[in-house]
Amino acid sequence: MKIVSIVGARPQFIKVAVVSRVLREQFHEVILNTGQHYDDGMSGIFFRELGISNPDYNLGVGSGSHAKQTGEMLAKIEAVLLKETPDWVLVYGDTNSTLAGALAAAKLHVPVAHVEAGLRSYNRAMPEEINRIATDHISDLLFCPTFSASEILRGEGISRGVYVVGDVMYDAVMRYLAIAEKQSRILEILRITPKKFLLATIHRPSNTDNIENLREILCAFGSVNELIVFPVHPRTRKAIEALGTRANDNVRFIEPVGYLDMLWLEKNARLILTDSGGLQKEAYAVGVPCITLRTETEWIETVKTGWNAVVGTNRELIVETVKNFVAPDTHPDLFGDGHASEKIATHLLEFK
Ligand code: UD1
Ligand code: UDP
Repeated sequence: MKIVSIVGARPQFIKVAVVSRVLREQFHEVILNTGQHYDDGMSGIFFRELGISNPDYNLGVGSGSHAKQTGEMLAKIEAVLLKETPDWVLVYGDTNSTLAGALAAAKLHVPVAHVEAGLRSYNRAMPEEINRIATDHISDLLFCPTFSASEILRGEGISRGVYVVGDVMYDAVMRYLAIAEKQSRILEILRITPKKFLLATIHRPSNTDNIENLREILCAFGSVNELIVFPVHPRTRKAIEALGTRANDNVRFIEPVGYLDMLWLEKNARLILTDSGGLQKEAYAVGVPCITLRTETEWIETVKTGWNAVVGTNRELIVETVKNFVAPDTHPDLFGDGHASEKIATHLLEFK
């Protein structure tokens, strides 16, 4: 059975790293990288560090407006699918690469399996929300990370082909955290002490393209009386440069780091500030409290258990929450048993 895995953006490289390893034991997997992310620190480093096979195709699509980027991907993915004639196409998450992959396949009547199905923010201003809804509604197999995600799908009338398998990003943490502990030298390189720093990332358009929100966040970071390590996404770097202001010296801007260094930073941070979906889950997985710089989250379980505070972008609220956040005593399993990838492979086999 031939499966084409379609990836293109940073979090998808991490997801495919764990899924691909399992798929390749049983199937013929072809990796198609759309090239949505292309800087080495956003792309190549993950292939090398996580041992992902070289992509069979790199479409080199790169950056652009949503329509231009997605449209170019669609046309190029279609050509590959016509050539490869796979039995399944696997798409991951909620980026433009996800939508383009699912749509190109569905139009060619190639069955689509969606990894990380059923998530909703109920905020259609997020490009990802459109991508999620459209992808879920044209997928044949929907692999949900949580039961609440499967309930959301049921509410939208999707119940066939839905399986709760757990979260593949949790699989990745389980697999790579011990390796990160052995291999990462990031604390030494940055000369920082475990639990004596906060870790921050932002890249959502609502925070980078909205100058007011970006300014509030940077002011909040500068008003926190602790060191903040901030690996800066290229989109955010451009926005901060355009804004022309800097945060205070307690904020340490660094280039994006590889996954092993990132996991080790997360594990050793006192607290994580982010608008990233992946980081909210990883914060929970490594047992570090998270403050989400958005007005809503798809990962509601992390909030319900008390490990994630969704605070938006108000400066005072961010600073107050950093000061007063108390981690709960309980930490139930939310994202499966670390074997979501195996369950995905098993379900795909049923459709051989
Ligand atoms: C994309 C996804 C988002 C995901 C994020 C992960 C969409 C709509 N968004 O957002 O869901 O959370 O990836 O990081 O698919 N850039 C570079 N070098 C790169 C990549 C990007 O400089 O290697 C810059 C370019 O200026 C580009 C901008 O970042 O225009 C945004 O990149 P893009 O891929 O469009 O969206 P992300 O914000 O990365
Ligand atoms: N990540 C990384 N290096 C960084 C920032 C993030 O390896 O400098 C990893 C992070 O650990 C997580 C994933 O990238 O696994 C999250 O991706 P991102 O925040 O870009 O996207 P999202 O999850 O919001 O879609």
